[in-house]
Amino acid sequence: MPPEIFSPIRWRDGALELLDQTRLPQAEEWLRCTRPEQVADAIRRLAVRGAPAIGVAAAYGLVLGLLSAPDGEPPAETLARTARLLGETRPTAVNLRWALDRGRDVLASQAESAALDREAAAAALLAWAERLQREDIASNLKIGEHGRSLFAPGDRVLTHCNTGALATAGYGTALGVLRAAHDAGRLELVWVDETRPLLQGSRLTAWELERLRIPYRLIPDAAAAALMARGDVQAVIVGADRIAANGDTANKIGTYGLAVLARHHGVPFYFAAPLSTIDPATPSGAEIPIEERSPDEVRSVFGAPIAPPDAPATNLAFDVTPAELIAAIVTDAGVLRPPYGEAIARALKKQAD
Ligand code: MRU
Repeated sequence: MPPEIFSPIRWRDGALELLDQTRLPQAEEWLRCTRPEQVADAIRRLAVRGAPAIGVAAAYGLVLGLLSAPDGEPPAETLARTARLLGETRPTAVNLRWALDRGRDVLASQAESAALDREAAAAALLAWAERLQREDIASNLKIGEHGRSLFAPGDRVLTHCNTGALATAGYGTALGVLRAAHDAGRLELVWVDETRPLLQGSRLTAWELERLRIPYRLIPDAAAAALMARGDVQAVIVGADRIAANGDTANKIGTYGLAVLARHHGVPFYFAAPLSTIDPATPSGAEIPIEERSPDEVRSVFGAPIAPPDAPATNLAFDVTPAELIAAIVTDAGVLRPPYGEAIARALKKQAD
């Protein structure tokens, strides 16, 4: 991994260590996982979060499954059991399933995999998980390179949720584009949506931008319309949890509303994601499963109640932005433009060739 790249995921002395994102920005604590159940719990609690980061953490979770398996269980069986455990944690980000499917393929492709013992299978999977982590960083650097030319000096760009190093293996997707644009002198300021209910914008994106010394201003989610109306937003760029074959894209709740606002104000709306976030098996946004989380996350902030204890609440974690509202999708393979059905099919075919 390039030394200047910060990653929230690391493999140390036979264990997976995750920077606990539930504790940021108050504390920088690393969670040490030696069993896949701990990785599943960390994904569920959002200690590790963001579609690409979840995929990479799950890859290491498979390794832990093999290292902690009961004696005598065949590696392929262990892998299937562990993949089920990890795959059930969060339904929307397709990178999770993508990584688990590839982990199974890696084991299957090993010569005489049926005879492979547990240690050899774990070693093969660990080498693959480390490669996946390096590849995700390389993809993000490419996304940054492709995306930075969408911006011009003096641009004030709005983003939602957290899509930086914390949400990936390192560098980031939409935040990586903003980082590359800033380095190229093509960005004045980032408007950071706080991103209720779990505040990934104010807790995590602001934390990252501070470290990177990129100028930003934090805003309540509800302020985006007023800023656009004042002409203070030149573009919006966000990350993605799943891109359907027709370009409809799922991302953090509130993204769809921003895209509608951007269209109304003539502001270009961009997604940034690696090709691994595209799910060709999902024809359109209507088929993307949307995670619904505990109503307690809406009724409270950091455990402090902000509503009557039993107030009925709905907590959809993601929404779907229709392809027609998207000006471009920045990927590691280049900037895709409408019509997305064709652009996506071309990009995936080129990758497979
Ligand atoms: O619930 P989260 O924090 O995992 O949601 C994260 C997002 O919605 C991100 O925008 C998306 O995963 C892309 S991260 C590069």
